[in-house]
Amino acid sequence: MHDELIARDLAHIWHPCSQMKDYVDGHLPLIALKRGEGVYLEDFQKRRYLDGISSWWVNLFGHAHPYINRRIKEQLESLEHVIFAGFTHEPAIVLAERITKLAPKGLNRVFFTENGSSAVEVAIKMSFHAHLNRGQTRPLVISLENSYHGETLGALAVGDVALYKKTYEPLLIKSIQAQSPAFVGTERALKSLSQQLEAHASQVCAVIVEPLVQCAGSMAMYDADYLIGLRQLCDRFGVHLIADEIAVGFGRTGTLFACEQAAIAPDLMTLSKGLTGGYLPLALTLASDAIYEAFYSDYSEGKSFLHSHSYTANPLACTAANATLDLFEQEQTLKANRALIAQMADRLSELAKHPLIANARQRGMIAACEIEGFEPADRINLQIYRYALKEGVFLRPLANTLYFMPPYAITPAELDRLFDVARAAIEAL
Ligand SMILES: Cc1ncc(COP(=O)(O)O)c(C=O)c1O
Repeated sequence: MHDELIARDLAHIWHPCSQMKDYVDGHLPLIALKRGEGVYLEDFQKRRYLDGISSWWVNLFGHAHPYINRRIKEQLESLEHVIFAGFTHEPAIVLAERITKLAPKGLNRVFFTENGSSAVEVAIKMSFHAHLNRGQTRPLVISLENSYHGETLGALAVGDVALYKKTYEPLLIKSIQAQSPAFVGTERALKSLSQQLEAHASQVCAVIVEPLVQCAGSMAMYDADYLIGLRQLCDRFGVHLIADEIAVGFGRTGTLFACEQAAIAPDLMTLSKGLTGGYLPLALTLASDAIYEAFYSDYSEGKSFLHSHSYTANPLACTAANATLDLFEQEQTLKANRALIAQMADRLSELAKHPLIANARQRGMIAACEIEGFEPADRINLQIYRYALKEGVFLRPLANTLYFMPPYAITPAELDRLFDVARAAIEAL
């Protein structure tokens, strides 16, 4: 069954973020999954894989969670989807009420999309358009070096990971990068940003950052102090602060949102990934009252935000998000995660003693380190991926950056297994 499925897959499917020839040549094993349960994925040969990266950082409470499943099934019986212009529904209303209560103060407006990149593009368009509605044309966004905000052209344009961006550079709108605090520290990074803002002040609509962890940029981490200085600079120059919490939101850094650690509120915030517990595609762009008010006028004034996607605020996805928020409350997840975070810290410091390991770092439920002494051509990430799979563990290093971002449903024994297998994989290199 497995081999037949793979052959049928390779006959037609083009997988994301992949060189398809790797699958055909067998460099990268393509695995057909039959089911998921808790932190495990199971293939057709009944081999189980411990999901060490939460299925691309989305899964929180495990696969096929009985409560989330039940809620989605119930919703399915009443309304699967409807256009969200001119119509509304309870799952979206409840989600908007809850998320605005949980989010940093002042983010009282919720715009729905279907994926993180779209949420980022909405934030950029809203910022640009809000300035425009107040009579200013400010076409530039500042982001950080090494940042990642998605793959669609607008989101790619404000990102800075060459691997994804370089090829498409001629297609992209112009953006400016300031130095990242993850590499130069808070003070120098704020100085770099301040210089960029001074040089381009009247042209800049927003600064966009991934608070605390630049995830796709090799899990580069920085201090909350930077966010405090960033908020002050944005206020001083009258530009919006966009916090892209798509990867770090929903408890990944230890607090529900990473911005909380700096006690700041952005003007716009993007959320996705963990939002639905890893179940269904949904994203949100939260906006301040001031931004909302810049659009609120008679239709004839031409100030409306005429952006939409077909599956905006899908009721099943909103229900998955509400069920996920229920679990946060019922299971006191943030508190419960503290023990896992401490265990990760222990295991990481142990791993850091290995002669091939450098720059071990952690923010909450994200732990990472560098594997030294190898060239990119060695593709050690592939070697580790393959080794771990054979041991029943799913790890997916970013080039030479090994990281752990498990679902919160992981047990202490499973977390130990994750680190044990990673260590063995490094030793086998
Ligand atoms: C910080 C950040 N922003 C945006 C995105 C894009 O989200 P999506 O893949 O849902 O388009 C990602 C995805 O990894 C991300 O990590």
